[in-house]
Amino acid sequence: MSNVYVFDHPLIQHKTAMIRKEDTSVKDFRELVREISMLMGYEATRKLPLEEVEITTPICDTKVNMLKGEDIAIVPILRAGLGMVDGMLALVPNAKVGHVGLYRDPETHEPVEYYCKLPNDIDKREIFVVDPMLATGGSAAAAIDFIKARGGKKIIFMCLIAAPEGIEALQKAHPDVDIFIAAKDEKLNENAYIVPGLGDAGDRLYGTK
Ligand code: PRP
Ligand code: URA
Repeated sequence: MSNVYVFDHPLIQHKTAMIRKEDTSVKDFRELVREISMLMGYEATRKLPLEEVEITTPICDTKVNMLKGEDIAIVPILRAGLGMVDGMLALVPNAKVGHVGLYRDPETHEPVEYYCKLPNDIDKREIFVVDPMLATGGSAAAAIDFIKARGGKKIIFMCLIAAPEGIEALQKAHPDVDIFIAAKDEKLNENAYIVPGLGDAGDRLYGTK
């Protein structure tokens, strides 16, 4: 079974509290999502592989460990996942970015696919799938299905707010995928929205609705 990491860092808790508030502006929401993603990314990238390279300091030649930056892919689930990409890229600027487009059918709450474009060598990359919300888990599970169908193997899922139902569903669908969460919430409501949550992440990021 996969590992689930819920962050207890005060900065992450504070910023996550800020994005929940209904009077947080679109501009602030976007900036906070970026900042939280970067803080979470710092820990979620802990196990990234390093390679030994030779460099020259002003004093001498030496061997140092550097990231295999070209081995990373960030895959946001559109739309809301896009808000988490810049924070991750600030940490791993050489990562490639794939996109999976999914929306939840408002009646059935089932994910509907409309786009998928991944790096050709996705099978060789450490993949960070990002989406602010894990509600029923349907979107995350479907996105990871697409990625695996195209050869993706080493996958981590990162979200800001998760419902227990979504965590359970994602673990069941993809027991090999570790899950990083800024906050674990109480439950889903009758519309499959997370309670207390933050509302519709896509609408709050882009000012729609
Ligand atoms: C939201 C969110 C997730 C999904 C989570 O996207 O960003 O992708 O819902 O719900 P689930 O776990 O029940 O599948 P939405 O479908 O609203 O699309 P959007 O990002 O385009 O607004
Ligand atoms: N999608 C969202 O954006 N928010 C929720 O609470 C659930 C699904």
